Amino acid sequence: MVRFNLVNLLINIDHVATLRNARQESFPDPIEAARLCEEAGADGIVFHLREDRRHINDLDVAKLKQIVQGKLDFELSTNDSIVDICCDTCPELATLVPERREEITTEGGLDVIKYQSHITSTVSRLTNAGIAEVALFVDPVIDQIKATQDTGATCIELHTGDFANATLHQNQAQELERLNAAAQFAHESQLKIHAGHGLDYENYRLFAESVPHVCEVSIGFAVIAKSIFVGLGNAVAEMAQLVKH
Ligand code: PXP
Repeated sequence: MVRFNLVNLLINIDHVATLRNARQESFPDPIEAARLCEEAGADGIVFHLREDRRHINDLDVAKLKQIVQGKLDFELSTNDSIVDICCDTCPELATLVPERREEITTEGGLDVIKYQSHITSTVSRLTNAGIAEVALFVDPVIDQIKATQDTGATCIELHTGDFANATLHQNQAQELERLNAAAQFAHESQLKIHAGHGLDYENYRLFAESVPHVCEVSIGFAVIAKSIFVGLGNAVAEMAQLVKH
């Protein structure tokens, strides 16, 4: 018998802000989107405050902190001034991600081995500010997870982008194997396991059946894209149905 954990669904609303900013308008409003996502069954909201402020801006962050009722996940790089804002905001969860100005979206996990000392001091600043959970976004690579243990972070977010992008059955099976091994190792290392990037209505079930111990997923693009056709509430409710059942 396959046993499923209870998994939290957090919805990333960055793409609502991207659309707003494309016309430099005040709509669609990511704050209203967050409210609708929670009403439709999301357990929380994710946003990424990028150094270039290409989607979410500082005012959005302050408003999200006020209105989000569930879990608030602040994605950020280790840039000092962004870390300051995260500490002031004090979300329930801070997720450290790599950030490159020229990328369209986050392209892979942090290199925790290479940047371990800077990441460790950033985790310590976030934790000392009272943030209950600090996660590192990592590729499903055992050595990266080993390095994570020494930073003081209590969670990893497994990067699922390579699985989502695998077009061949064989590649997909390989990626699921890597994710499975990484999840087993992280679980044995007492790290909480989140996952995200490229998860959608088509691939989620296979992911959930193949990768154990995941307690939270962060999903954005698929839900916001679907909402154009079915409305945001329906798009979130359908994803919540998948994740929770
Ligand atoms: N997790 C992280 C760390 C991300 O950077 C992103 C993309 O913003 C996501 C999850 C969500 O990915 P997607 O928008 O493809 O669902």
